[in-house]
Amino acid sequence: MGSAAVRQLAERGVNVLAVDWKQDGLERLLADVAGSPAEIITTTADVADAGHVQDYVAQAVARFGGLDGVFNIAGIGTGEFKRLGEVQNETFDEVMRVNARSAWLGMKYVLPHLVARGGGAIVNTGSHLAWHAAPTFSAYTASKHAVVGMTKAVALEYGSDNVRANIVCPSAMETAMGQEAAEGIDPDDPRIGWQIMIDQSANGRVARPEETAAVGVWLLLDAPEHVSGVVFPVDGAQSAK
Ligand SMILES: NC(=O)c1ccc[n+]([C@@H]2O[C@H](COP(=O)([O-])OP(=O)(O)OC[C@H]3O[C@@H](n4cnc5c(N)ncnc54)[C@H](O)[C@@H]3O)[C@@H](O)[C@H]2O)c1
Repeated sequence: MGSAAVRQLAERGVNVLAVDWKQDGLERLLADVAGSPAEIITTTADVADAGHVQDYVAQAVARFGGLDGVFNIAGIGTGEFKRLGEVQNETFDEVMRVNARSAWLGMKYVLPHLVARGGGAIVNTGSHLAWHAAPTFSAYTASKHAVVGMTKAVALEYGSDNVRANIVCPSAMETAMGQEAAEGIDPDDPRIGWQIMIDQSANGRVARPEETAAVGVWLLLDAPEHVSGVVFPVDGAQSAK
């Protein structure tokens, strides 16, 4: 989903610093956006480490002269598909760290630059499980509910600075994480796991990462100023149930 978002921003001529803790995906991304009308640069960082976040924010500001927005996307799945009583405390801590702390830091260190610029946009990435729940996903569900809470808080706290903050909430997506979930739901036959996720949507398929990215890019670049504090589902009507 992150690479889909950067490709869409690049096509729109938006300069981006793309961050991931793995170099290989960033290299593929740079090859994809070669020749686009924007300047796309990359850096490796752990988005849940405060020092790393401060460093990548400083790199972007130094290169581009300021910031207009941030799209916090990186996340990890639950890892352990068990009921809460059987999930290791370390799993909870790491899922909260990567999914919730990263959004916290990704807003905290960007906000002063948006305010200095006279405003900007923040988009965080939730999940259907950011406002609903599913068995065996308790730690992930907790982490994504936390992102909803902090996004709404920032929307209220920084509205007077012309900063908008919203959260996109996809259902299962055709990505590496989607595959991991399918394997977790049915380790013997991930196709059954995928079918269970497909059956949640009214349109009989899971989300494409490009669709969620497109909503995030719209919220970043195009949404009216009054659109803030919104939990925006991209889930084939799953949340309409
Ligand atoms: N795939 C799904 O079914 C699904 C459903 C709902 C929500 N989401 C959310 O959408 C977002 C994108 O998910 P995706 O499906 O593209 O996942 P993905 O696993 O395909 O990609 C996640 C990326 O985040 C990076 N990453 C993970 N931890 C990091 C860290 N600490 N620092 C830096 N980079 C890190 C990984 O290297 C990877 O490139 C996530 O926030 C995820 O929770 C995904």
